[in-house]
Amino acid sequence: MAALSDVPTHLWARKFPELGTGPVSNRPCVSLEYFELERERVFKRVWLNVGRVDEIPNPGDFLVRDLAVCKTSLLVVRGADGGVRAFHNVCSHRGNQVSWREKGNCRSFTCKFHGWTYDLDGKLVGVTDEANFFGLNKAENGLTPVAADTWEGFIFVNLDPNPAESLRDYLGEVADHLEGYPFDKLTTRYTYQADERVNWKVLLDAQQEGYHVPFLHRLTFVKAVDNWQQEILVRSVDVKLFKCHRLVSVGGSGQAPGSKLTPVEELARRYGATTLAAMGGASHGGQQGTKLVGTFDFWVIFPNFVMALMDGTYFTYNLWPLAVDHTVWEIRTYYPPARNAGERFSQEFAKCTLRDPLLEDGSVHERIQAMLGSGAKSHFILQDEEIAVRHGYKVVADYVGE
Ligand code: FES
Ligand SMILES: [Fe+2]
Repeated sequence: MAALSDVPTHLWARKFPELGTGPVSNRPCVSLEYFELERERVFKRVWLNVGRVDEIPNPGDFLVRDLAVCKTSLLVVRGADGGVRAFHNVCSHRGNQVSWREKGNCRSFTCKFHGWTYDLDGKLVGVTDEANFFGLNKAENGLTPVAADTWEGFIFVNLDPNPAESLRDYLGEVADHLEGYPFDKLTTRYTYQADERVNWKVLLDAQQEGYHVPFLHRLTFVKAVDNWQQEILVRSVDVKLFKCHRLVSVGGSGQAPGSKLTPVEELARRYGATTLAAMGGASHGGQQGTKLVGTFDFWVIFPNFVMALMDGTYFTYNLWPLAVDHTVWEIRTYYPPARNAGERFSQEFAKCTLRDPLLEDGSVHERIQAMLGSGAKSHFILQDEEIAVRHGYKVVADYVGE
């Protein structure tokens, strides 16, 4: 955070002049028609993160992801050969969901309606009372496959029957930058989930700029600043904009000037830094091979996946649209396995220090969406630190073709 004087302005508009500086229409956040175009031209066409390989470590492990935005449910399975595959969770007989469980382990999937059975590769291997069907060809009636691939342990799927590019090509420069971050060592995972009456982009926008931090987060990030109305500016240390993905990187001390740690914070930091401390550069234990641009790197992997990296810990968001004004926000936070009670305590504390500012963020999402519905405003007015928001609307518009 920087004091008001001597802070450069218009840095990002100079770096990315092609994005312009004008107001941005809010129609993409309220239009039903626009949402349908996003469904068809974005979510059904690009690579979407649906989990991590360590959620299904063993042959027969599976997880189910309901992707309302793509109007389907997916079955993601670890095969007998160790490969990760995805299928529409739809029985070939009369369309029942094959797995009703969110996750588990099995040797085959049997549909509850009439008992058809599929193996881990999706092949139809059993049909009850088969003789009473009419020339049924089992080989042609397996589960419908969905393109699936992994990168650094993250599982991605693509609903396009013929994806335009491979996962690695789609990630492009993001993958170049992030390969080597110790994702495989940060295996302790905590999750939150929020169901919000908000457009997915409004939710994302509130995360990809630091302009709001001294104001909305004055009870958390900057809680000890007595006179919070004194202007404190957050400036990104770097912004990278790619074809569709982007990075907002923040530096900073992690502690507002004049702020004091509470006794519990002191204790938590003694055994391992808290999430907020890590955002500010305090080490969580010095992971080898950490590749960071600033101290807190916020990578948006288009359209709905975010990886927020710090030294020794990271968290992710998956934003799942249910409707134009309804989104499920999944938050997963990752730490190295705790080696003792002190580290475990520190992680519990870190969980809460992440939760609290996210609750503050959540408190504006639904209010914004409700007010967009009023039609009183037709545009967002964006300043230079909101360049990632500007880029987000441009990329969606390019995909949607508007
Ligand atoms: S719908 Fe699955 S066996 Fe009939
Ligand atoms: Fe925030």
